[in-house]
Amino acid sequence: MSTLLILGSSSDVGIACAHRFAKEGFDLILATRNGDEYQRNLAADLSIRYNVHVVSVQFDALATSSHKSFYESLGVKPNVVLSVFGYLGNHEQALSDFTQANLIIASNFVGNVSILGIIANDMESKREGTIICVSSVAGERGRKSNYIYGSSKAGLTAFLSGLRARLAASNVHVATIIPGFIKTKMVELLPETPKPITASAAQVADAIWLANKAKKDVVYVLPIWRLIMFIIRNIPERIFKKTNL
Ligand SMILES: NC(=O)c1ccc[n+]([C@@H]2O[C@H](COP(=O)([O-])OP(=O)(O)OC[C@H]3O[C@@H](n4cnc5c(N)ncnc54)[C@H](OP(=O)(O)O)[C@@H]3O)[C@@H](O)[C@H]2O)c1
Repeated sequence: MSTLLILGSSSDVGIACAHRFAKEGFDLILATRNGDEYQRNLAADLSIRYNVHVVSVQFDALATSSHKSFYESLGVKPNVVLSVFGYLGNHEQALSDFTQANLIIASNFVGNVSILGIIANDMESKREGTIICVSSVAGERGRKSNYIYGSSKAGLTAFLSGLRARLAASNVHVATIIPGFIKTKMVELLPETPKPITASAAQVADAIWLANKAKKDVVYVLPIWRLIMFIIRNIPERIFKKTNL
């Protein structure tokens, strides 16, 4: 029997992945910082709907000193770990308030380095397992409108690339998921994004399932984003700095 640990299971993408993997017969460990009634109800619903074992546990990406004991406390160790937690934050505020900038970096980058580092060491010693982590196209080039979040995701993408190369020799797979826009609560207060380049949480979950099944390394959720980011990465700096991206 396979077990999936979802770090940040209250996220819209996390919930969609919980359904996708449970449908395939995976037992689930739902890890969220608010082990609230909603998560307990979700666990009960998934368990009945798909006839799988589901537990709900408390996990805070910012509480790095608790990550070792969090992982050690898991009764059953997961074969697959999916990290989906993330924090967009307020870019304007972050420009003048380091506490906000630090929260963005700590949530998206430091939290993942901490928990995935612990899990990677365990999987490496067992010589099996899969780590899947959601980064973002925002990490591919710093844009003036969100370079703090973008740089935290850039750090995350680089971390995952190195981790993948290190663990390949130990039969542990690391997949980097790179979504463009996703219609979720993270962006509900922002202007609506163009439909053809906006994925649903269910589409992201399908891409993540495929990454797990086919052991993909780097997955752009909507393939058009690979082209978009290729173009954006290759705009010369002298032009890029005049854009409003
Ligand atoms: N939406 C987009 O357009 C988009 C685009 C590219 C990449 N992404 C990435 O996709 C992933 C999933 O996000 P989403 O779109 O599904 O948004 P979402 O529904 O807002 O999910 C973000 C989740 O992260 C959790 N989280 C934040 N800080 C945490 C912490 N310290 N400890 C534990 N959990 C924490 C939140 O938990 P609470 O419920 O407790 O707040 C929330 O469930 C994120 O990594 C995001 O950066 C999103």
